[in-house]
Amino acid sequence: MNLTNAINERFSCTKYLAREISNECLNKILRAGIRAPNAGNLQSFRFVVVNDEKIKEKITSACLDQRWMMQAPIFIVVCSDIKTLKEYYPARHKIYAVQDTSLAAQNMMLAAFSLNIKSCFIGSFDEKSMKRALNLKDNLEPYCVITFGYSKESKITRRKSLDIFIIK
Ligand SMILES: Cc1cc2nc3c(=O)[nH]c(=O)nc-3n(C[C@H](O)[C@H](O)[C@H](O)COP(=O)(O)O)c2cc1C
Repeated sequence: MNLTNAINERFSCTKYLAREISNECLNKILRAGIRAPNAGNLQSFRFVVVNDEKIKEKITSACLDQRWMMQAPIFIVVCSDIKTLKEYYPARHKIYAVQDTSLAAQNMMLAAFSLNIKSCFIGSFDEKSMKRALNLKDNLEPYCVITFGYSKESKITRRKSLDIFIIK
C-alpha cells in the first residue's frame, strides 16, 4: 500500500478481531515510530508494548473505561523521557514531548495500516492511573495510548472542505 492510500484510508478503529499481531509486524510498527522527527534528535520517545490482559484492563480503566479497547490484542503507550528533554530544552520540553510522541504515534499508525493492522489513538486518560498501571519511572510521562489489531471494520471519517482549513 502506498503512503497516500494509508493516509487517506486510516481511521480510528474500535472493533477488533481476536487475531494476534506477529513480532515481525510489531517490530516494523515500532521502527516506524522511531523514524519520526523529534526535538534535537534526542529520541526521547519511549514505548510500552502491552499484551498482558491484566495490564490492558488497568490501562482501559485509566482511559475512562473505554471498554472497546479490550478487544485489541496490543496497546502501545507512547511516553516521553521528559527529564532528558528538560535538560536540553528547559523552556520548550513540555510542548516538544507532545510533538515528539504525536509524530511517533502517527508514524506507527500509518505503518500498521500499511500492514493491514488497524489502530486508534487514545488521548483521554487519567495520568496518575496510567503511570500506576505501567509502573512508570519518574522520568517518563505517558502521552497517548494506541490500540492495534486486525479488524473487519471499515470506515471513512469525513473531513470538512479543505477551504475551511486554509487561513487567507
Ligand atoms: C488528541 C486525541 C485524542 C483522542 N482520544 C480518543 C479517545 O479517547 N477515544 C477514542 O475512541 N478516540 C480518540 N481519538 C480519535 C479521534 O476521535 C479520531 O481521530 C477523530 O474522530 C477522527 O477520526 P479518524 O481518526 O477515524 O479520522 C483521539 C484523537 C486525538 C488526536
